[in-house]
Amino acid sequence: WPAFADDIGAILALKRERNAVILAHNYQTPEIFHCVADIVGDSLALARKAMTVDADLIVLAGVHFMAETAKLLNPGKTVLIPDLAAGCSLADSITAEDVRLMRLRYPGVPVITYVNTSAAVKAESDICCTSGNALAVVKSLNAPRVIMLPDEYLARNVAAQTKVEIIAWKGRCEVHERFTAIDIRELREAHPGVTVLAHPECPPEVVAEADFAGSTAAMSDYVGRHKPARVVLMTECSMSDNVAVAHPDVDFVRPCNLCPHMKRITLANIRAALEQNRHIVTIDPRVAERARWAVERMLFV
Ligand code: 13P
Ligand code: SF4
Repeated sequence: WPAFADDIGAILALKRERNAVILAHNYQTPEIFHCVADIVGDSLALARKAMTVDADLIVLAGVHFMAETAKLLNPGKTVLIPDLAAGCSLADSITAEDVRLMRLRYPGVPVITYVNTSAAVKAESDICCTSGNALAVVKSLNAPRVIMLPDEYLARNVAAQTKVEIIAWKGRCEVHERFTAIDIRELREAHPGVTVLAHPECPPEVVAEADFAGSTAAMSDYVGRHKPARVVLMTECSMSDNVAVAHPDVDFVRPCNLCPHMKRITLANIRAALEQNRHIVTIDPRVAERARWAVERMLFV
């Protein structure tokens, strides 16, 4: 990739100079994912690995809530996000005040908050979850009813796997809500024998028609374990590009939806982040203490 060589070389040198590590989500473009990242994974893996980082500086190649989670778990380290506008439609769908009102409406019902939220929303929660551990988190609470915020589809997809009553919010991922069951039927017709994997942020009718649903890491593991001849990942576009590198023998059918927020992160702004120490992620310490508790509780499930 000669077009990227200059930025890649500069980033690798800056990482050494500044004792920095780059954490990259599975939806980052291949040149970030494969060439400059030190740690890659789904939201759960990034949160877990963020705690073990032995560096002065963390650059989060992903969206803002992921950078906040890294900061919550590493309060003594500097965490940078290369573009502050890398947001998330789920995180934008709910405020801390909304969570307080839900608690008033359903007194005593535990609140599970998806990590795709602001630190202020996490601070109002009993425990966090990711798409990788949502069912286990629900079970861990031993409650007949739980509130699961803010992804309506994740909540409904988890509800289909448990007897626990799940009260949902109305948030949606703008990327995954666009997949339909008709897309899957058309894909199966056009590509006979294709294995369909879906992210649990997809609508329940999409998950019902898929062969498997799981987090981005779970989808990647599935391909490694089952080695399907032909596969389609109903998720963000870079996911197939990244997983395909390790599986040249698997045919990846690639209809996909781009996440405009994830795509705000580039080699150029990662380099600028390291050169100019920007943008530093800060969290109000009173919010951080309560939000950290909810994230850490999840990590022990
Ligand atoms: P994962 O936790 O599965 O990586 O998902 C994060 C995300 O933002 C999916 O849209
Ligand atoms: Fe948010 Fe969806 Fe983008 Fe993930 S893919 S960061 S949930 S908007």
